[in-house]
Amino acid sequence: MASGGKSSTAVTKDYGKRTVIVTGSARGIGKAVALRMAEDGYDVCINDIAANKAGIDEGTLGRQSYGHAADVSKRCEVEELVEASVKNLGNLDVMIANAGIAQVKPLLDLTEDDVRRMFEVNVFGLFNSYSVAAKQMIKQGTPGKIIGCASVAAYKPMALLSHYSASKWAVRGFTQAFAIEMAEHKITVNAYAPGLVDTPMWDLIDEEIGKKTGAQKGDTFKKMTEEKTALKRPSVPEDVSKCVSYLASPDSDFMTGQTLIIEPIASLLSCTFSSRDYKRIQLFFELILTYLTKLCENRFGKLAPAFEVSNIPDEMREFHSVLQDYRLPCMESDVGEGSLSAIICKSVG
Ligand SMILES: NC(=O)c1ccc[n+]([C@@H]2O[C@H](COP(=O)([O-])OP(=O)(O)OC[C@H]3O[C@@H](n4cnc5c(N)ncnc54)[C@H](O)[C@@H]3O)[C@@H](O)[C@H]2O)c1
Repeated sequence: MASGGKSSTAVTKDYGKRTVIVTGSARGIGKAVALRMAEDGYDVCINDIAANKAGIDEGTLGRQSYGHAADVSKRCEVEELVEASVKNLGNLDVMIANAGIAQVKPLLDLTEDDVRRMFEVNVFGLFNSYSVAAKQMIKQGTPGKIIGCASVAAYKPMALLSHYSASKWAVRGFTQAFAIEMAEHKITVNAYAPGLVDTPMWDLIDEEIGKKTGAQKGDTFKKMTEEKTALKRPSVPEDVSKCVSYLASPDSDFMTGQTLIIEPIASLLSCTFSSRDYKRIQLFFELILTYLTKLCENRFGKLAPAFEVSNIPDEMREFHSVLQDYRLPCMESDVGEGSLSAIICKSVG
């Protein structure tokens, strides 16, 4: 049975002195990540905006830590953050660009300022954190790990969270691009994509969606957890920090450019076909089988006349739309046309 998320599975191994910066770590997921990194044996630089100073000052348990207020959307503040962390804790080994904001608003009500602020924090903030950290690691001449925070919304946009979703797609883009260019410096770059995690950010989303739908406080989160997630239990920040711990550890040394989906939002899983979809899949494979059988028969000069393939494309077109909905996100980086259906369609001509 899947365990609840709160218990720690940290096993401290002695990798020597290591340091990490976690942005947006005064609360929520970032705080859980900072605590987990301390348990894993890192000295931790806690960062957040000045308004969350109380959270910054709480520090991490049992390890050396340093708190530094900085707005990640401002390049010069990120440069100061990295410089101060190195001065106080030593060489930078891991950067975790966790800070992010969300806003609930219908697409056509969004102003330029709304979109700009979302991208300033979620995209420029991440870009600043990635690039300033990479420069520091290259200057040190040491290998490093850079980790960013995406979201399941980076794979499937959510209504009323369109600019948030778009900003998280950009996180995946930068993560892959940085991974390619940083490889020669022995720096790996990966991201984590949480689903519905019980944090102040979701309190805000829940409240704002409730204002539009009339749902009571907490009901949207509960309903979405029940209807949209595969494991059917609310996710907590520690579910995320366990995965981030892996991305920061030597166990993930041979992994780069990946965005790890943590919580299985059901619609992102291929195992969530409805029974109607299964019938169509069955039909589709029957057609492929018939086609291949006829192909063999023709090839070896036996039996039936040439198989009429003219009826296949319609079925395939219908099936294609099903697969588009349920495509496997992990295949996107490997397959040019980005979906399972593309592979199948190619393979049957
Ligand atoms: N909660 C979820 O369900 C969920 C799901 C997917 C992804 N995420 C992502 O996880 C990350 C953490 O989210 P959370 O749920 O813990 O939210 P949160 O609001 O509880 O915490 C985010 C932290 O980032 C800080 N922050 C915001 N702007 C900043 C800036 N410009 N500079 C520095 N710090 C800044 C905030 O002050 C806050 O402490 C975000 O990137 C978010 O998009 C959250």
